Amino acid sequence: MTDTVYLNGEFLPIDQARVSVLDRGFIFGDGVYEVIPVYSRRPFRLPEHLARLQHSFDAIRLGNPMPDAEWTRLIHDLVGRHTGEDQSVYLQVTRGVAKRDHAFPKESKPTVFMMSGPLVPPSKELVENGVPCITATDYRWLKCDVKSISLLGNCLLRQSAADAGAAEVVLFRDGYLTEASASNVFVVSDGRLLAPPKNHLILPGITYDVVLELARACGIPVELREVTEQEVRSADEIWVTSSTKEVLAVTTLDGKTVGSGRPGEVFRVVHQEYQEYKRRVMRQAA
Ligand SMILES: Cc1ncc(COP(=O)(O)O)c(C=O)c1O
Repeated sequence: MTDTVYLNGEFLPIDQARVSVLDRGFIFGDGVYEVIPVYSRRPFRLPEHLARLQHSFDAIRLGNPMPDAEWTRLIHDLVGRHTGEDQSVYLQVTRGVAKRDHAFPKESKPTVFMMSGPLVPPSKELVENGVPCITATDYRWLKCDVKSISLLGNCLLRQSAADAGAAEVVLFRDGYLTEASASNVFVVSDGRLLAPPKNHLILPGITYDVVLELARACGIPVELREVTEQEVRSADEIWVTSSTKEVLAVTTLDGKTVGSGRPGEVFRVVHQEYQEYKRRVMRQAA
């Protein structure tokens, strides 16, 4: 059985989905995307994902091809065509097909593509033992708040982590923490949770928001401010967060032990809260 995907107005098997080689997504990486986790067949924080998608459209001066109500209907339709209870919906919109020219075409129709695959949460082993990470200089562009399909910088950085047998690469720009190649990064220092504020240097993670809400609700002191490389390297705990990783503890950084070398106390509290929050939200949506 081949997977059903959505392309430009129709649902079809993935092996029949075709896009022109002149699509600006293929030629220039000129497009934006979203990844939406689906639990018990219900998209998680969909309005927030659609708001971030709108932010990406605005940033690249591309009109949103449909209202949120239509996105919502199509995403539910796609989820319904797959068997898994937990899924990961990937959607991307490019500036469409046009003669190759860097400047935008006067007229073009955006290419809209969506697919869904199984969402596999991190294993118990990863949650209980944490993951190794390396560090690197953040050499990406200065619009990291845009969820652009031009991911070459992120791919190169992520591959450096893969080459080192690490789960992620924690990035520093000018001596300050930004994020990781496909995750946001949090640090615990003296019982306080530190994270860089949302700006053009990081992707405004949906999981980042959830983690901050849960931490504040638990009474954990939160500081959103620039975090120095030194603070990261001497932190008691480091976490990476994303829709697919949820919250994971980093237990070694560049081969050096983080804190006790085990996922920390604050991590355990927030990870547990995250699992309960997911269950609560899914029950409410039922
Ligand atoms: C560069 C980057 N930062 C942060 C994140 C985390 O975002 P979210 O929590 O919305 O998945 C991602 C997710 O893919 C990402 O690619």
